[in-house]
Amino acid sequence: MAKITTSLFGGSHLGAVGVRITGLPKGLEVDFKAIDRLLERRRARKAAWSTPRLEGDEYAFLSGVENGFTTGEEIVAEIRNLNTRSADYPRFVPRPSHADYAAFIKDGKIEPGGGRFSGRLTAPLCVAGGLAEGILKKRGIEVLSYVKEINGIKGKGYPEVTRDEIVNAENTPPYAVTNGDEMLKAMEEARRLGDSVGGSVESVITGLPAGVGDFYTAGLESAIAYEVFGVPAVKAVEFGLGSGFSKGYGSELNDPFRFEGGKVVTLTNNSGGINGGISNGMPITFRATLRPTPSIAKPELSVDLSSGENVILELKGRHDACIVPRAAAAVEAAAAIAILKLIMEEL
Ligand SMILES: Cc1cc2nc3c(=O)[nH]c(=O)nc-3n(C[C@H](O)[C@H](O)[C@H](O)COP(=O)(O)O)c2cc1C
Repeated sequence: MAKITTSLFGGSHLGAVGVRITGLPKGLEVDFKAIDRLLERRRARKAAWSTPRLEGDEYAFLSGVENGFTTGEEIVAEIRNLNTRSADYPRFVPRPSHADYAAFIKDGKIEPGGGRFSGRLTAPLCVAGGLAEGILKKRGIEVLSYVKEINGIKGKGYPEVTRDEIVNAENTPPYAVTNGDEMLKAMEEARRLGDSVGGSVESVITGLPAGVGDFYTAGLESAIAYEVFGVPAVKAVEFGLGSGFSKGYGSELNDPFRFEGGKVVTLTNNSGGINGGISNGMPITFRATLRPTPSIAKPELSVDLSSGENVILELKGRHDACIVPRAAAAVEAAAAIAILKLIMEEL
């Protein structure tokens, strides 16, 4: 049926950031609570590991939403940028592993704060994700994400974790089901050292009926990975057992079928609910791995692109020692958008 498109606009140090969504039919109710829930989890808090740069995330629908319902027109949502300090960012010395150098080659300039490559763009992504989650919920589909690992410290995850445990974890940073205190310590230690750490976010999608998706690039894995790689700092996306499949026998790792209450289920879910790119009715599970925050206070080797010299970069700005807790909301938003696009196109 309808093809849904999403695009982000603006930049961290411009007037605003925002999202455009086309193709959504009229009359869909906007779940403002679902949007607020994602934005709240994405927001920088006054935690030791989080940036002291508190961002206002007041969003407004400029078009496409009236009286809480979609109108069928293009949806545009905008968030004004209130708190920016461009002086914190060198204009010709790229931050190692940020998008600065690659963007300089492409655009001819380094935007302060990373421009369109900034994590700030995940705020409007969360607006679109919350909108998507509200629509999916009405169809019995739920997307939940939590922090699985930070700097090697692992928390409880799928399949041991329960829905209640995940929902509970949402109230307390770093949004891990277990071992949150150890993860916080690891992030605080990174901040103390002027350094940063990475980790992973795990997502579980329930209620998606069997039969959604298709072969080749029309598969569910492609659709979810496509959106989730749009979240900056995500460097790996794996489904089900993922890289765990590299060791073990098929007889141990295949998911055996059984009838349960007249419904086909699998006794294990190493496949992450997807076979041949199509949902098999089990929960969709995936993990996204995020790199340590590129901007760190420790001096690093870089280059001055205006003078052609090798230099030492000493960064002054305000950055998260770990972006994984905040990124959990963005990963969830991206996955919800992927599922919404697929089901609106197929059903
Ligand atoms: C929620 C969120 C916040 C982020 N905040 C920062 C930050 O404060 N400083 C930084 O260097 N990178 C930050 N990033 C990561 C960069 O935007 C990202 O690493 C950069 O755009 C390069 O993209 P890549 O790592 O995917 O290659 C953030 C990412 C997310 C998802």
